[in-house]
Amino acid sequence: MAKKVLITAALPYVNNVPHLGNLVPTLSADVYARFLRLAKHDVLFICGTDEHGTTTEVKAIEEGVTPQEICDKYFKIHKEVYDWFHCSFDCFGRTSSEANKKTTYEIFNDLDENGYLLKQPLKQARCPKCERFLADRFVVGMCPHCDYVHARGDQCENCGKLLEPNQLIAAKCKICKTIPEFVDSMHLFMDLPKIEPELREWISEVQDDWSENAKTMTQAWLKEGLKPRCITRDLKWGIKVPKAGFEDKVFYSWFDAPIGYIGITREFRKDWETWWKSEDVRLVQFMGKDNIPFHSIIFPGFLLGTKKSWKLVDELAVNEFINYEGGQFSKSRGVGVFGDSIMQTGIPADAWRYYVVANLPEKMDSDFRWDDFAAKINNELVANLGNLVSRVLTIVNKTYNSIIDAIELNDDEEEFIDKVETAQAKVRVLYEEIKLKDALKHVMTISKMANVYLQENEPWNMERDPVRRSTTIGLLVNVIKDLSILINPVMPGASRFIQTLLNLKPLSWNDLGLKTIKQGHLVQEVRHLFNKVEDEQLGELKGKFGSKSDFFPLNLRVAVVKKVEDHPDADKLYVLKLDLGDHSRQIVAGMKPHYKPDELLGKHIIIVSNLAHAKLRGVNSEGMMLAADKDGVVKVIEAPNSPPGRQVMAGDLKNNDKEITYEEFSRIKIRVLQGRVLASGKQLKSQDEDIVSGLPDGAIVK
Ligand code: 2FM
Ligand code: ZN
Repeated sequence: MAKKVLITAALPYVNNVPHLGNLVPTLSADVYARFLRLAKHDVLFICGTDEHGTTTEVKAIEEGVTPQEICDKYFKIHKEVYDWFHCSFDCFGRTSSEANKKTTYEIFNDLDENGYLLKQPLKQARCPKCERFLADRFVVGMCPHCDYVHARGDQCENCGKLLEPNQLIAAKCKICKTIPEFVDSMHLFMDLPKIEPELREWISEVQDDWSENAKTMTQAWLKEGLKPRCITRDLKWGIKVPKAGFEDKVFYSWFDAPIGYIGITREFRKDWETWWKSEDVRLVQFMGKDNIPFHSIIFPGFLLGTKKSWKLVDELAVNEFINYEGGQFSKSRGVGVFGDSIMQTGIPADAWRYYVVANLPEKMDSDFRWDDFAAKINNELVANLGNLVSRVLTIVNKTYNSIIDAIELNDDEEEFIDKVETAQAKVRVLYEEIKLKDALKHVMTISKMANVYLQENEPWNMERDPVRRSTTIGLLVNVIKDLSILINPVMPGASRFIQTLLNLKPLSWNDLGLKTIKQGHLVQEVRHLFNKVEDEQLGELKGKFGSKSDFFPLNLRVAVVKKVEDHPDADKLYVLKLDLGDHSRQIVAGMKPHYKPDELLGKHIIIVSNLAHAKLRGVNSEGMMLAADKDGVVKVIEAPNSPPGRQVMAGDLKNNDKEITYEEFSRIKIRVLQGRVLASGKQLKSQDEDIVSGLPDGAIVK
């Protein structure tokens, strides 16, 4: 029976060009929506841009325009990118629309009337240098729970815990790195503890249908107990708070953003209430893992608090992240594949969609690698699927004048049909369960089965048995037709292309079946489905987009030694207290045999600041200092003219912030050559000086 399914993809922030990793929830949602439509369900697929908040204000300052102009500009870019990727939204709107403002006010007023809003003072971060209040995510520092050093003021991406900016250790303004001040002002809070019993009951009823990461993170949250959540901000750009005493504030963007799903539906559809206020709709929401608690707890909390019968999420489909060649995407450093540049590669959207789905980071983070990308296109799309289509249709064109000849099935062929149809049924189940990566894998297995069948039956050698030959070919044409349906959710363009070659109208899931194309059916002249990515093109792409070889995996920083103490339990170790400019650290170093404490004191040393923290004989070590060793003579590597905190780089390689293990560190070669310290063959330097060492050639830095 046809179901009504409402699908949402997390609303992207409007202040940037989305990169391949950002596209994961959107593309996953699109694949699912397309599958459901093919299977004749009633689908409404919603997405749009998340336009409020400081991110937009800051971008406006950077580009010297108004926040509205930023939104208009990037809304258009986002829309173009998603259109190019064949995203089949029914509504693509904006959180800044009148419809969303209206919906936000209605929900806010209900919460207020029902007594779910608390007035409390809040310390808000303000950057004295930028002269503005900072949105939570613009305060960065160390997570108090897991020590991750790049935690944001709203949440730690590493351990998933939600944070308040003033909980961060060594908090900084993300924009200018100044230490923010915390200023008190009155704010409105959603009383989550008051709605908690209802939330818990609802969660326990529905969470079986959530992805594992969604369940785990939500339970971790509930275990800690819910706290009131602030829903207002001292910003200018946003939806004004309609309440006396709060007129100079706007809503926190995480208040009106999820409401945006409803607002966007309302913006475009007269029947919006039949989707958002009706029991017989299934709501499936796609998002990245950092969005979980907002969709599993906070937004449902707002809706429950209205005491109106809003549709709550049934299924949470949450992806982990895609990294780029082992590092992070960074527009400012020009590293990664971004929507605007993907469109210029000459590689069609379907190939990108295929790659993303085949690499979906469902259970853990995955990695975009150019070599892997080319291999997937060449070995899977071209050599498997493309090859099948072109071999079979070439025979139909050449041997049969493009007309399907007699199909008379024998037992072997019936058996093959059974095998293919069983596999197809499995594909359907996997799509239904939103196991999209597995579904695609099974589709490609069917294509492979058909290639093997073709190879084994050798129709080119069957001149003496014309019926067997035409049957083999006729059957394979039917498999190709079915493949065009099965790949459709992932590769709608290629799907349509195959159906055009076969002279078929757009097909639905009901058109699956290996006996539907019959004798006498005319097909078109074969054309290429996919082009290979040749080595030369691959080289160009790598060069253009920056590849792993541009990265230096270490984050090296200058630190000043402030204190040297003996390790309580080890003869050769010191415990050093270091100043890194904006924070201090402690490291354990095996320098006792080589230096007296006051020889180290005050030195500007260089530490590996992204090394995983470790306990050395029971004492915490937050990094490692660089020292060179030549035949047992050990000398500390120094940067005497660089201030504490200064970045040290290897030539023009881009530094990486990702944490590395000691083992990974030990694989990187740092050596002394003619008095210069070289890492990966490049001069180590800060912006103040080149790094040198008095040790002779060949000294190894550890
Ligand atoms: O993390 C993000 O990109 C947010 N803009 C997602 C918002 S989802 C929804 F709630 F609007
Ligand atoms: Zn600042």
